[in-house]
Amino acid sequence: MAEEICFFTKDALIIKPPKKSPALLRMIVIVFAMVCGVYICSTCLKQTNTETTRKLLNIEVIERPCHEYDTDRSQIPYLHYPKPKTFSRAECSCNPVRLFAVLSAQRSGSGWFETLLNSHINITSNGEIFSVKERRENASSILRTLDMVYNLDLITSASKNHCSAAVGFKWMLNQGLIQYHKEIVEYFNNKGVSVIFLFRRNLLRRMVSVLANSYDRYARLLNGTHKSHVHSTEEASTLAKYKPEINTTLLITDLKRMEASTKEALEYFNSTRNIFLYYEDLIRDHTKLEDVIEFLRLPQMNLTSRQVKIHSGPLQEHIKNWDDVNKTLKGTAYESFLRSDY
Ligand SMILES: *[C@@H]1O[C@H](CO)[C@@H](O)[C@H](O)[C@H]1NC(C)=O
Ligand SMILES: *[C@@H]1O[C@H](CO)[C@@H](O)[C@H](O)[C@H]1NC(C)=O
Ligand SMILES: *[C@@H]1O[C@H](CO)[C@@H](O)[C@H](O)[C@H]1NC(C)=O
Ligand SMILES: *[C@@H]1O[C@H](CO)[C@@H](O)[C@H](O)[C@H]1NC(C)=O
Ligand SMILES: *[C@@H]1O[C@H](CO)[C@@H](O)[C@H](O)[C@H]1NC(C)=O
Ligand SMILES: *[C@@H]1O[C@H](CO)[C@@H](O)[C@H](O)[C@H]1NC(C)=O
Ligand SMILES: *[C@@H]1O[C@H](CO)[C@@H](O)[C@H](O)[C@H]1NC(C)=O
Repeated sequence: MAEEICFFTKDALIIKPPKKSPALLRMIVIVFAMVCGVYICSTCLKQTNTETTRKLLNIEVIERPCHEYDTDRSQIPYLHYPKPKTFSRAECSCNPVRLFAVLSAQRSGSGWFETLLNSHINITSNGEIFSVKERRENASSILRTLDMVYNLDLITSASKNHCSAAVGFKWMLNQGLIQYHKEIVEYFNNKGVSVIFLFRRNLLRRMVSVLANSYDRYARLLNGTHKSHVHSTEEASTLAKYKPEINTTLLITDLKRMEASTKEALEYFNSTRNIFLYYEDLIRDHTKLEDVIEFLRLPQMNLTSRQVKIHSGPLQEHIKNWDDVNKTLKGTAYESFLRSDY
């Protein structure tokens, strides 16, 4: 059938020149591709009536492959030209999209980090999509969800649709990431997904934040609503009024376990293209954000967030049984957690 011959798919017209091909060879390939295209088209013109021809030519225009001969060839595995089912990428359909995932643990600054990312005009970071249990029930539901996100078909409040040049989400270690690491690493490496590790140095502060956040789930200190992130110092100080008590019997064990799970994630995902960040370094040093934009190969922009830190100031103001905690950690590898500022 004429229709089948004429329907250009992206793959049909991409003829990859061999790696490190000289410019001349590349030219030959381009000319060859053009001649092929003209030949197939002229075959179509002969075989179909004018009305279908017009339709088919439209298809050819829309389906024109996006192939950038300018780009650094080592980057090609990381460039994607998704064709979402839910909308058209319009004038940006030939802008390459990079795929990423922020791997983190709860209360490590990943919510704040995502608001920074999303303040970039070309970044879409979709939030904690695997907090939905059905999406992480088994390896196949995880991979299906990933396909949807990376094809830009998962619409969230962060979605920037047609001109996104980097799309991703944040993924907590305890949301199927460790359990199905084999399948996920394979997917990441096949698709060229870049990994941004974001962890917190001060695990004691993280523990305070986890305890306070889970207390607020039922205490709902802000006029009866539970909030994990706030946008004003008043809200922050209201939430920080609650001072959790830390079980010192389990403290060292808990800190060790947190450390071990970070180490495990780093090992499992060490074959991916990745960058490692500490929350504390992002706060202290804004050039770290430039490194992230550079890592995603996007144009530099100043990133901003309206979020306000909840537990600011010395840690002793935020822990009920401070003296016990101080005594427990003194002389251990975790002693520095007592003093650090963030
Ligand atoms: C995976 O989980 C989904 C639910 O999200 C279920 O429909 C499907 O049957 C499961 N597949 C396997 C192989 O267990
Ligand atoms: C970023 O977004 C802007 C506006 O939507 C668009 O014009 C531009 O081409 C995009 N940049 C990239 C690198 O895709
Ligand atoms: C809670 O309610 C009070 C009084 O109505 C108001 O002034 C305050 O802004 C509210 N706070 C939040 C966090 O909504
Ligand atoms: C601390 O945890 C241990 C072990 O689970 C438990 O036996 C103990 O009662 C806890 N202490 C406090 C003060 O909750
Ligand atoms: C990644 O982790 C594995 C398991 O610990 C280790 O054998 C391997 O050498 C690591 N690879 C790299 C590139 O660090
Ligand atoms: C970011 O802001 C600083 C100071 O406000 C300015 O000097 C710099 O040029 C800005 N960078 C970009 C990429 O807009
Ligand atoms: C922790 O305890 C030591 C005594 O063991 C004390 O000198 C120090 O001031 C305490 N630190 C804080 C921040 O309370």
